[in-house]
Amino acid sequence: MTAPRYQWQPTTADIAARFGLTPDRVVRFDHNTSPYPTEWVHPLIAPMSRNLNEYPAASYADLRVAAAGHYGVLPENVVPGAGVDEILLLIARAYLGPGKRATTVEPTYPLYEIATLQTGAEFRTVSYTRPDFGFPAEAAADAAATSDVTWLCVPNNPTGHRQRDDDIAQVVGAARGLVVIDAAYAEYTGDRWATWLDRFEHLIVCHTLSKGFGLAGARVGFALAHRTLIDRLDAVRPPGSISTLSAGIARAALAEPQRMHRHVDNTVTERSRFQRGLEDAGIDVVPHTATNFLLCEFGDAAHPLATALMQHGLVVRSFRQDHALHGFLRFTVRSRDENARLIDTLRSITT
Ligand SMILES: Cc1ncc(COP(=O)(O)O)c(C=O)c1O
Repeated sequence: MTAPRYQWQPTTADIAARFGLTPDRVVRFDHNTSPYPTEWVHPLIAPMSRNLNEYPAASYADLRVAAAGHYGVLPENVVPGAGVDEILLLIARAYLGPGKRATTVEPTYPLYEIATLQTGAEFRTVSYTRPDFGFPAEAAADAAATSDVTWLCVPNNPTGHRQRDDDIAQVVGAARGLVVIDAAYAEYTGDRWATWLDRFEHLIVCHTLSKGFGLAGARVGFALAHRTLIDRLDAVRPPGSISTLSAGIARAALAEPQRMHRHVDNTVTERSRFQRGLEDAGIDVVPHTATNFLLCEFGDAAHPLATALMQHGLVVRSFRQDHALHGFLRFTVRSRDENARLIDTLRSITT
């Protein structure tokens, strides 16, 4: 089976050109990124930019130390990568291939399927139960018992739910091979998955600086795991996929987590306001998100609405006809003004 392609969203420049907008009128509600500008990195860049003629140190030892300190593990338990996306591909490269099998619970982050199929491994899914997107713990545990890799997104993108600890533990406990907890949104739940590494030697926890830390453009993520798993990931890791600038910015961000906590707190407050505003506009918001995005149900109106919003420069995540979430749209929680603009535009389109 050929691997499906990752579906790239149209760029901001493309959308602006297509609808006759200036690029600053285009707002990305589709990437689950942070609305907070990153001017704080300016003073870091000038000194670091003196040595861009050289490669970054391939071991990224300082970055491992910074990540270890933040996540509460030892540096030997950390692999850095160019975002969690690269980490997921490294895991697939190290542990999957023809004759191997991986499982996930759908709907979820699409790269698990792509990373699996690219290696020639088999990809199996079990489904969240409808209508509430409940976690199918029994079925997931059964599937994990016969899988080489089990991908779990906690909390789950795109439904937004934080699964119960007991259910996750049931799957990890039953697994035959590795379990990967993709904790891309952990800052919004306060999860400390590293503490689970003491209980489970076959667990890899993935963290990113793209979401709560607000550094998606820097492209930095980490795998945390036992030493033997780390060695295997390091063996397939390219020597310099994180630029010198990104590694330095990442170290600074990890050394000052207060900024991240402030931004996450603000986003969580804004998330409630945004949700109330959407509900007041008569929109059906899937309850209990634990992330920086809201999933909303529109039925047949979803696709025409997404297109109409894009014409106004508001880019939201929609789902194709064959996707389990066809009929839903996903909105990133952005700044108060941007969220208000989305709600006002939705109201004006739908009335
Ligand atoms: C669940 C999940 N994992 C990974 C990523 C990508 O993370 P990164 O920017 O670190 O590559 C995303 C981005 O949307 C995500 O939602």
